[in-house]
Amino acid sequence: MATDAGDPASRSRPLADPLSAPLTDPPPAPLSVSGPGPLPGPGPRSAARLRFPDGFLWGVSTSAHQIEGAAGEREPSVWDVFTAGPGRVKDGSTAAVACDHYHRYREDVALLAGLGVDAYRFSVSWPRVNSPGGLDFYDRLVDELCAAGVRPVPTLFHWDLPASLDWMDRDTAERFAAYVSVVAGRLGDRVTKWITLNEPAEHTLLGHALGAHAPGRRLLFDALPAAHHQLLAHGLAVRALRAAGAQDIGIANSHSPTWPASGSPADVEAADFYDLLLNRLFADPLVLGAYPEGVGELMPGDVAADLKVISEPLDWYGVNYYAPARVGAPRDTETEFGGLTLPPGLPFSLREIEGRPVTDFGWPVVPEALTELLTDLSARYGERLPPLVVTENGCSYEGVDDQDRIAYLDAHISAVHAALEAGADVRGYFVWSLMDNFEWAEGYTRRFGLVHVDHVTQRRTPKASYHWFRELLRAPR
Ligand code: FCB
Repeated sequence: MATDAGDPASRSRPLADPLSAPLTDPPPAPLSVSGPGPLPGPGPRSAARLRFPDGFLWGVSTSAHQIEGAAGEREPSVWDVFTAGPGRVKDGSTAAVACDHYHRYREDVALLAGLGVDAYRFSVSWPRVNSPGGLDFYDRLVDELCAAGVRPVPTLFHWDLPASLDWMDRDTAERFAAYVSVVAGRLGDRVTKWITLNEPAEHTLLGHALGAHAPGRRLLFDALPAAHHQLLAHGLAVRALRAAGAQDIGIANSHSPTWPASGSPADVEAADFYDLLLNRLFADPLVLGAYPEGVGELMPGDVAADLKVISEPLDWYGVNYYAPARVGAPRDTETEFGGLTLPPGLPFSLREIEGRPVTDFGWPVVPEALTELLTDLSARYGERLPPLVVTENGCSYEGVDDQDRIAYLDAHISAVHAALEAGADVRGYFVWSLMDNFEWAEGYTRRFGLVHVDHVTQRRTPKASYHWFRELLRAPR
């Protein structure tokens, strides 16, 4: 297993040196270094009045570690190890019980059926599949979903790596493909849409570079092999899925339109760098089969051969969107931003987006940035971009009469519609999340659900937003 020390050669590498080379090589242009600009807001339109294309897929998302609980009935994941350490999770909680979905999945599928969604995006826990009886759980869940008329859309990795494995090791990618074959062999007769990985960018950045998430590494740019190995795992998984006869395969990548803090060259350069790190580092190899200029040299192994695997054609490309980023020139002191401690020496600094309402998480509400993101992806990658699906979008607010969430979702669904009108090929939209759950380093302090969960009694209470979304789905289209 790799350690925080990394290999001495890469440790002695100047932090930003190879990456600070001019990030030219257009086309394609940077994904989204534009700015608040004159984009129209969603205005008073109501999503219920908008027409979406036939077959547009409406769903909600969750992930295994955040809802299942029953931690004693599977081998440990890196998140179990991480949360056992002091001071890692805001409220000192763990996901040992979470929403107890493992035992209450029938009730939760009934909530999905009542909501009237076409599809349910959940994740399969690799540590559970490794444990006796683990795959039986997903077998039962998929049966229950099919019986309820809800299409199962499993994500094969949503951050809960078996504790014995490490994304800094190349071998983990091969093991992932073997695990994926087992899952596909068992569920492939009923599952018709698949997601390989969730947000390798956040898992790399928060988990391996900054240490805010499991496995808690602070490797900064020495974390890049974890990104490469996840991308390789994705490509190998696509091949394994197709070998098992699976179709309709995608990935869920996080994206944030990135806006420079000002027009100054230093701010624009910093924003371009951040855009590369968060948006292009993962999308370029998947869609174009190449890393952005200057990055490939930093990756381990036979990168050219790996890129052929990584760029196995996808049937669709999933986008998780919450908020844009405003990025300025570096600051030479440690800074706090959105609950993150950013070390000095990073080649950018994160800034507030002023004049916007914020969610309870402090994330700014900027729906038009979702339109910008979807249209920019389409413009940047053109015909090479597979159809898009918004695989996560949502907000944390307290309360069961959650009018703020309704406003957020209404504006963001309208923003997806605006992207469709502008020519982006968007095929679906999934709300994060079906129910309040274990929000990683924030524990149970953030509530993203359409359904309120009392984390003491496990009582589920549909919120106003659940009823609103149900009516939206029923509206004639
Ligand atoms: C995303 C994660 C998801 C959830 C939301 C709020 O980055 O994929 O599990 O935590 O953020």
